[in-house]
Amino acid sequence: MEKPILLSIQFCYNQFMTLLLDTLALKPTNRAPIWMMRQAGRYLPEYRELRAQTPNFLEFCYSPNKACEVTLQPLRRFNFDAAILFADILTIPDALGLDVQFVKGDGPKLEKIKSVADIDRLKTKIPSVATTLKPVFEAVTKIRAGMNAENFTDTTLIGFCGAPWTVAAYMLDDKPSKDTANLRKLAYADPAAFNDLMSVLVVSSIAYLNAQIEAGAEVVQIFDSWANSVPTDLFEKAVQEPLLAICAGVKVAHPNVPIILFPKGVSDRHLAQLVKVGAKGGQKLFDGMGISHTQDLAWAADHIMPHVAIQGNLDPAVLLAGPEVTKRETQKILDMINGRPGFIFNLGHGITPPTPIESVAAMVNTVQNSSK
Ligand code: CP3
Repeated sequence: MEKPILLSIQFCYNQFMTLLLDTLALKPTNRAPIWMMRQAGRYLPEYRELRAQTPNFLEFCYSPNKACEVTLQPLRRFNFDAAILFADILTIPDALGLDVQFVKGDGPKLEKIKSVADIDRLKTKIPSVATTLKPVFEAVTKIRAGMNAENFTDTTLIGFCGAPWTVAAYMLDDKPSKDTANLRKLAYADPAAFNDLMSVLVVSSIAYLNAQIEAGAEVVQIFDSWANSVPTDLFEKAVQEPLLAICAGVKVAHPNVPIILFPKGVSDRHLAQLVKVGAKGGQKLFDGMGISHTQDLAWAADHIMPHVAIQGNLDPAVLLAGPEVTKRETQKILDMINGRPGFIFNLGHGITPPTPIESVAAMVNTVQNSSK
């Protein structure tokens, strides 16, 4: 009687756990899972070809068949252990009624928030997240079905959103990658309005991520790409509280779906603080932490990985130096981690358009041929 039960447990395990899910649960695996931020993108000729047919970037994101196709493209070439939904963090401001344009060579340009009245107007638009972003949820379902149909059954589908600080930076500042001064000024000059803006984005992001999960996303990542511009005094209000509030809103609805935070470039002390407040003791609000290439992966392996998985952190510029250098630097990271459970191989930030495909192949082969 015992054997069939054991066998069926084994069957369930194989059905529902993957290399990425095991790693996020801090279980030992044969090797580290690998995926790449911006793995669907302009370094791939097949992406550029499809993208050229739809000049309007948001229209491209809202075309479920095209979003599905470009999500699958990098899996076919590299058999990554995860797929990431093709969409953008700026779909939320679009759904909240702000004009969002992607200007070629100049990055995203948003209609700016200038007053408390503008923030109040956003509040009334929160319900549009569920309706305007339906094509994104439809894409998620198509992607999961497409992955199964093409035999990527052990590949995990990641959904995502931007963190409130990073999304708000695009709503107030022209180039958040250079400066977030307008957003910081709002946080100092009118803390109530700043908190209101963060709350609108928290509530919208919870609705957005939960709908992605209900459509088929198995893990979600929250990108706080400009968290490194947050002054120490504002860290709790601008990064910690909004990120953990989103985690709580997702975990309440979907307690078993792992969440990866990517507070890009924040100090080691702040990484440790996020773990202490959000992932130690009774409640685990998140399961993984992205580490950028300017952060110390060896420190994170010793201090963060015992509590949540860590993900990173090969410098995307290494890949520009060619396959041999990429192989060497990839191996260096694997040697440092030395098979400890809870490590996801990734870049420290998104892959850049001029990256040679041979470098990506060298990185993936090095990780996938390693074993612990
Ligand atoms: O493959 C994936 O990672 C999934 C898709 C994805 C995109 N954007 C597609 C995209 C994801 C996860 C994002 C997140 C995103 N978008 C972030 C957070 C991660 C990060 O890189 O910091 C941010 C800050 C954005 C905002 C954004 N969208 C920027 C700064 C740009 C670049 C503008 C440019 O022209 O270089 C975009 C556009 C964008 N999003 C592209 C892609 C593939 C390039 C657009 C194109 O094809 O022309």
